[in-house]
Amino acid sequence: MTGEVKLKRSGVSVGIIGFGTVGAGVAKILLQKRVDIERKIGFSISLVKIADLDVKRDRGIRLAKNVLVKDAGEILNSPDIDIVIELIGGIHPAKEFILKALRKGKHVITANKALLATHGPELFKAARENRVELGFEASVAGGIPIIKIIREALIGNEIHAVYGIINGTSNYILTKMTEEGLDFSTALKQAQALGYAEADPTFDIEGIDAAHKLAIAASLAFGKSFSLNDVYTEGITKITPLDIEFASEFGYKIKLLAIAKKIDQNIELRVHPTMVPKEYLISSVNGVFNAVYIEGDAIGPALYYGKGAGEMPTASAVISDVVDIARNIRAGAFNRIRGMEMSERTNLKVKKMDEVASCYYFRFSVFDRPGILSKISGILGARNISIRSVIQKGRKKEKAVPLVMMTHRAREKDVVSAMKEINKLKVVSGKPLYIRVEGSEE
Ligand code: HSE
Repeated sequence: MTGEVKLKRSGVSVGIIGFGTVGAGVAKILLQKRVDIERKIGFSISLVKIADLDVKRDRGIRLAKNVLVKDAGEILNSPDIDIVIELIGGIHPAKEFILKALRKGKHVITANKALLATHGPELFKAARENRVELGFEASVAGGIPIIKIIREALIGNEIHAVYGIINGTSNYILTKMTEEGLDFSTALKQAQALGYAEADPTFDIEGIDAAHKLAIAASLAFGKSFSLNDVYTEGITKITPLDIEFASEFGYKIKLLAIAKKIDQNIELRVHPTMVPKEYLISSVNGVFNAVYIEGDAIGPALYYGKGAGEMPTASAVISDVVDIARNIRAGAFNRIRGMEMSERTNLKVKKMDEVASCYYFRFSVFDRPGILSKISGILGARNISIRSVIQKGRKKEKAVPLVMMTHRAREKDVVSAMKEINKLKVVSGKPLYIRVEGSEE
C-alpha cells in the first residue's frame, strides 16, 4: 500500500493482446456487461483496443471502428491504456510484451501459465519495480478462482497439500474413454474442437499444462517459487482402455492428478495418471471440469470444483483480475497481494521422485507359463515391494495375456528398478506399465 500512487477518479481503460478464444470471451464480457459491471463497482471499465495479427476473422462480436488493430504496439505505447491483457500464450513474444507493458507503468493480466511457470519471478519483480500489478487468476483452473482462494481466502492457513485435476483436455479424454469407450485420438479431437486444448496439445496430454499450473499454485500455497523443472511430469498417452477396466474392477478411476504435498521440509511436486478410489469426490470430476482439493490446518479438507478451460470460464477469471486491479487503481493501492516472488519465505526442498512412496498398479503382458508369477513376485519381493492383489485374465496359447497387480506402499526407486528387471524376462512381452495409486496408505 502506498500513498504515492495517484488516485484515479475516472474510468479505467483496457487493451487486449490476442483475440483468440479467451480474448473473444473477455471482449464479450467487457462489452456486453459494461453497464452491469459499472453498476456493481461504481465506475466504468472500457475496452479501447484489441490487437491480433488476424483482423479479418469474424468472432461474432461487433467492435467500434479502429478498436481491432494488428500491432500490439498500439496498446503497449498508448498513454490511455491502464491495463494490458496478454492472451496470446507461449513464451515469445508474450514475455517481451508483458515486460514492455510493465516498464511503461501499465498493469498486466495474463492467462499464460507456461510463461509464469518458467519466468514468473522475473515478471513479478518487474511488476513490483514498476509499481504495477500482474494478475494471473486465469492461469490456473479457469473458472475456479483458485489463485484468489489460496492467496486471499486461505491466508490464515498453513497449507499441507494441494491436489488437482487441472487439465480439462486430459480429463475430458479420460472421461470419454471411461464412459463411452472412445479411443484416445477421437476424444482428443473432440476436446480440440470444443476449444479446450492448448495450441500444442502435447502440453495437455503429456501433463505439461497441468505441471505449469501446479508450479504456480504450489508457489502460492507453499511460499516458494517453483518452476516447471521442479515438477515430475508424466502424461496420459500410455493409458489404455484395458487399464481403465482393470482400475474399475479394483474400485478406482484413472485421473491425471497434479499433486503438491508437504511432508516436513520436503515437498512432493508431481503430475501423473493416478488411480483414485471411486468413492472420492474427485473421482466424479468428469469432462472438462477441474477440481482442486486443498488441505489447510485451519479449514481441514476443501474441494473446489468448476470448469477449468474454455472461452467463458477463462474469460470470467480474467475479468475478476480486471476488476481487482481497476479497484486498486482507483484506490491508489499497490502490491496489496504478493505474486510468485516469494522464495525467501521458506527453505522447502523438492523431494526427488525416486524417494516418493506410493501404492502401485502394475500391468505386465506375459506368456502364460508355469512359474511366471513367482519370477515376477521374486523380483518385487527382493525390493521390498509387497503385492496386495493379482488378476490374470484369459489364457491364450503363444499369446501374451495381461497380468495385473496392486501393491502396498513402495518406493518409486524400487519400482523403477523392478520394472527394468521384469522387462528383461523372456516371458514378458512389451514394456510393463505402472500407475501410482492414491487413497491407500498401507
Ligand atoms: N488446455 C487447458 C486445459 C486449457 O485443457 O485445461 C486451460 O488452461
